[in-house]
Amino acid sequence: MEDRERVLTGIRPTGPLHLGHYVGALETWIGLQSDYDCYFLIADYQVSDHADDLARVREAVWEVTLDWLAVGLDPERSSFVVESVIPEHAELTLWLSWLVSIGRLQRNPTLKAEMKDFGRRSVPVAFFTYPIMQVADILLHRAQLVPVGEDQLPHIELAREVARRFNRHFKEVFPEPKGLVGRVPRLVGIDGQAKMSKSLDNAIYLKDTPAVVNEKVRSMYTDPTRLRATDPGHVEGNPVFLYHELFNSDRQEVADLEERYRRGAVGDVEVKEKLAAALNRFLDPIRERRAHFAADMALVRDALALGSERARKTAQITMSLVREALDLDYLEKFRES
Ligand code: TRP
Repeated sequence: MEDRERVLTGIRPTGPLHLGHYVGALETWIGLQSDYDCYFLIADYQVSDHADDLARVREAVWEVTLDWLAVGLDPERSSFVVESVIPEHAELTLWLSWLVSIGRLQRNPTLKAEMKDFGRRSVPVAFFTYPIMQVADILLHRAQLVPVGEDQLPHIELAREVARRFNRHFKEVFPEPKGLVGRVPRLVGIDGQAKMSKSLDNAIYLKDTPAVVNEKVRSMYTDPTRLRATDPGHVEGNPVFLYHELFNSDRQEVADLEERYRRGAVGDVEVKEKLAAALNRFLDPIRERRAHFAADMALVRDALALGSERARKTAQITMSLVREALDLDYLEKFRES
């Protein structure tokens, strides 16, 4: 285990996971498990924007873990980590915040956009500094590889910078992590909006029942220029066909539907019914595994406890290196002269 390179990635527990998470992240994570020592983090320190709804955050910790187990992340091979179980995350965040200027954070494009979303609500200090905590997540476990969404790349760049700065100023402790972007950086929502997301209410969740999937697909945004089934339709940029491409394993059916759609020889109803069926075939085994674990929540708890305990050991080793690098062991080293 120890000679494999380490992967660390995380997610904020704000709700159950959807198809966008699957093709943008989970699918990559699943593949990395056989070659890397993987740490999957529930970033429950980083929800200062959800402080008024902690009950939902706590529930989401379980939802996310169930989704992880359901898609095949394996708590025996990989470590599921609850960030707040390891207070070293907070400690390292503080030390690393020495090395990041306010201006550097203000120029972070992802953070900038997210702060704008607060509108007139005030931004908690912890929100403004969350990229430093994310850097600490990565460096605390001395990860070499960080699979993330495209929007997270500025935070990885910051992690590289902070690692270099710490190593140069104090002592060589941290590897410089690399980012890895998933197959589909941004999945379009069922409403045709640029991004599937919980807050836009345009998501299909991994735990949605077949009936819910059917209904969501029925209401999907499709080619707005097409009024009748006999009008030639647009496949490119059409979310219904994009989902067919990504989730329908019956390639022949997809090719046939595309060809007929372009010619105006198939109705939207049939294209959508076939998509709903394909999505349900894709989701069935995921839902089945989810139900299996949901019926035995002690397994879910144990997965989090086991991974967090494992990761805490790594964290403590890193912190002893950090304390030594910062020359913090002066009480231990004290000699009466
Ligand atoms: N900020 C990330 C997101 O919103 C989640 C995250 C927290 C993370 N800590 C991390 C991602 C460490 C990668 C590594 O998606």
